[in-house]
Amino acid sequence: MIQKPKGTYDVYGDYSKKVKYVEKVIESLMKMYNYEYNRTPIFESSNLFHRGVGETSDIVSKETYDFKDRGDRDMTLRPEGTAGIVRSYIENKKYSDPNVPLKEWYYGPMFRYERPQSGRFREFHQFGVEVFGSNNPLLDAEVISIPVNLYRLLGLKGIKVNINSLGDSDSREKYRKALLKHFKPHLKELCSDCKKRYKKNPLRILDCKVDHDKKCMDKAPKILDYLSDDSKKHFEEVKKYLDLMDIEYTVNPNLVRGLDYYTNTVFEVEADIKDFGANNVLCGGGRYNNLVETLSGPKTEAVGFALGMERLMSALESENVDMEINTLDVYIIPMSEKEMDYSYSLCQTLRLSGFSCDIDYMNRNMKANFKQADRLNTKYIIIIGDEEVKSEIITIKDNKLKKEYKIPADELIEFLDNNIEED
Ligand code: HAM
Repeated sequence: MIQKPKGTYDVYGDYSKKVKYVEKVIESLMKMYNYEYNRTPIFESSNLFHRGVGETSDIVSKETYDFKDRGDRDMTLRPEGTAGIVRSYIENKKYSDPNVPLKEWYYGPMFRYERPQSGRFREFHQFGVEVFGSNNPLLDAEVISIPVNLYRLLGLKGIKVNINSLGDSDSREKYRKALLKHFKPHLKELCSDCKKRYKKNPLRILDCKVDHDKKCMDKAPKILDYLSDDSKKHFEEVKKYLDLMDIEYTVNPNLVRGLDYYTNTVFEVEADIKDFGANNVLCGGGRYNNLVETLSGPKTEAVGFALGMERLMSALESENVDMEINTLDVYIIPMSEKEMDYSYSLCQTLRLSGFSCDIDYMNRNMKANFKQADRLNTKYIIIIGDEEVKSEIITIKDNKLKKEYKIPADELIEFLDNNIEED
């Protein structure tokens, strides 16, 4: 038997209904925030991620799915969404559009060659947003508010928001020097990756999963002590707007994030749920004011975030959050083969009038049909017999209240309109 690749999974049955429900909530949230949907390719030139996400990030140095296409070009399955959205911003010259800030959202599969475990997949799905063209701290706070409000809308309670500032280039340069000075006498204690990070990007040492318990980590200088006046002011404003929106947060000075492109604000939201497991970061993001320029675009300030759908789904399941599983509006039961044509054209009419409708294709007996209607979570059952076809009077049964009505066929749509609420 051919099996699915390691670290991937199939979405079907009730789980797929829950995923679709959450996707619907995301879509309506993005409408409320007035963000535009952008779909970029699942694979891009490898260079984009090397230059965009950064050579020192684990994602690019160890985890990408790289391949040569038949034209001998180096391609990579996208490990995250930001680099592609930035490429699309530059390539389509969106910077010359007077619609500023440009606020975009995306959703789709991402690929990282990681060791599969709970909450960590090789193919996973991200919902994210990217906002271009403004350094307004209100937008940093707005971006943080999006996942928080999504969790609120879905009814997920156990979350913790961590924020930090990595400062602007000046603050970062001073901090980099302080880190180099601090870690120099400890280099021998650090893992081989951190030795490389020391040379290329010492900030990332603070994010190391191997060395994080070492004493020299605790004593490392803190970025917040090195922020320039502008960066400090920016961070204060972000916090002010979060307070305004009633969003609780913790300032965590060790939060550096695993990608190289951040400047100033960074944040992560953790699942604060008992026994959730180690991979509890539900989402993360921050400001990246230099990335557009790094990828050969004009200097453009930007901020964004992405959340992992798989972790969100397991947080919702761990907290037993009720996820509206779709119901079927109408299930039609033809009493015999003779009534199939009439029944199926009724089914077609109902579908085209906007009702979800299904029919017994299997010629089941009545008892089995009622069971099937329950399995499909049916609101109304219509039974079509010889009598109904002749009289054009339809018997319709409320499957929950177990009440029966007789309705002339030409009044059926009106009846359903009045009795079925839109999802
Ligand atoms: P990231 O922190 O690498 O950020 O990923 C964001 C989220 O994707 C994580 O918090 C996690 O929920 C989910 N995730 C990451 N890797 C996996 C995996 N292997 N399996 C399951 N879920 C995973 C980014 O990707 C940035 N592009 C976010 C961003 C957007 N920053 C600015 N704009």
